[in-house]
Amino acid sequence: MVSGLQWWFSSMCTAFCITFFSFTLLFSLFSLLIFVLRLKVACDCEICQAYLTSSWTKEFHNLCDWFTHLLQQSATGTIHIHVLGNTITANPENVEHILKTRFENYPKGKPFAAILGDLLGKGIFNVDGDSWKFQRKMASLELGSTSIRRHAFDIVNSEIQSRLLPLLSSVSREQRVLDLQDVFRRFSFDNICKFSFGLDPGCLELSLPVSEFAEAFDLASKLSAQRALASSPLIWKLKRALNLGTEKQLKQAIKMVDALAQETINQRREKGFSDSNDLLSRFMGTINDDKYLRDIVVSFLLAGRDTVASGLTSFFWLLSQHPEVESAIREELKRVVKGSSDDRNQQFATFDQLRDMHYLHAALSESLRLFPPIQLDSKFAFEDDILPDSTFVRKGTRVTYHPYAMGRMERVWGPDCLEYKPDRWLKNGRYVPESLFKYPVFQAGKRVCLGKEMALVEMKCVVLAIISRFNIRVLNPNQAPRFAPGLTANVRGGLPILVLENEKIHDLF
Ligand code: HEM
Repeated sequence: MVSGLQWWFSSMCTAFCITFFSFTLLFSLFSLLIFVLRLKVACDCEICQAYLTSSWTKEFHNLCDWFTHLLQQSATGTIHIHVLGNTITANPENVEHILKTRFENYPKGKPFAAILGDLLGKGIFNVDGDSWKFQRKMASLELGSTSIRRHAFDIVNSEIQSRLLPLLSSVSREQRVLDLQDVFRRFSFDNICKFSFGLDPGCLELSLPVSEFAEAFDLASKLSAQRALASSPLIWKLKRALNLGTEKQLKQAIKMVDALAQETINQRREKGFSDSNDLLSRFMGTINDDKYLRDIVVSFLLAGRDTVASGLTSFFWLLSQHPEVESAIREELKRVVKGSSDDRNQQFATFDQLRDMHYLHAALSESLRLFPPIQLDSKFAFEDDILPDSTFVRKGTRVTYHPYAMGRMERVWGPDCLEYKPDRWLKNGRYVPESLFKYPVFQAGKRVCLGKEMALVEMKCVVLAIISRFNIRVLNPNQAPRFAPGLTANVRGGLPILVLENEKIHDLF
């Protein structure tokens, strides 16, 4: 009797489990179907249809250029991609509102944290609130002082002297084609590791081994960015749960990134961190959790590597179009260092001389205006709001400001907005900064980039070192950079160049 009851009870349990599981699965699939159908039915506006059918690809190479086109056409400088729940703006007043006036209402938000969470974890780029405040405070101590910038200047110059210049000389002798974007990425990877973690990965060694880590990092960043383009997060979440396709690739790439980040932490620990003043050592003094340290390492790699490399790559493409700018920088360098007794075999200008190079600063700012390394940046509205251009923002909407489009808006920069003109930044030969809300290349307001000064010092040193010694010939100068999807702007196919060592230029100094 008892065993009969047991049998009956266990059969009922099994039947219940099967029914419950089937019902849950069917219900989830049904919800997904309804969600997808509703998107298509609910929004048949021209923009959403162009997005869903990808018909925009007939005219534009990438989403950024299409969004820019739409923003240029919009009367307010703001557009809506309803199927993505995304409001995109290129209006400086809106940008000020989002990044400063109502900063508390526009956090990164949970959807952003979910999209980038697997790669960035709880690193500074991916968090709000106390965790963000803590990391920002620690990083500001490291990046804020002039003495630290001088230290960064020394690190950069040592990488230039010991690796970059010998590499370019050897390529010039062998007359072989070099991908300048790849060189800049290796170069900035070495620099950010030396500066932030006090370790030298030697990525820019002459033998140029392909770094598995760098590749994994690129793939992880590309695939994470792609998640944001799915018309529903359910799609990538389901793929992740089932470990399928791009989500499977992403998982593998992140595993590799994790391994290297852990290796970095272990090495730092072995070398000792109590006397070191790099960023990681500073964090290790207060944090014991290796997962949290891993997230910090990854965020700083992302912050300092791809951004600087992207900015330099676009700059050298622009120089190939504007030899007059290159000549003007050489003239300025000659003028600033004239009569100086500093040893120019070690560095091309001193830290203080760099500050006097207003034209160089203008030329870089102008290049970043047209080709910002971070082309767009999103927040999520915490509460309903109205932007200064009267756009209503519903709670939970993704709100994006678009530095790439902003650099190309006639109403922001005037009728010559598409032209590369360093002079627009100069008044009586001196550099005059623009409002950061009009030029949010380094973001603006409370979360403004902490590495801006350091990045500009690094870029200036590289530009001076290269153009005072070499002539760079871009192989396809007429092809404007086309960017691959990713968290930072990478040129598809890189920037193939030939390097000519120019003794005449060298003799000028
Ligand atoms: C040309 C080079 C660079 C550009 C264009 C740039 C741009 C930006 C932008 C747009 C943001 C905001 C990103 C977001 O909130 O999602 C940002 C944040 C940040 N950047 Fe940079 N960056 C550059 C280089 C660097 C370097 C070299 C470092 C560090 C060594 C750095 C450190 C940071 C940090 C720590 C933040 C986070 C600030 C916060 O959330 O409070 N950046 N940067």
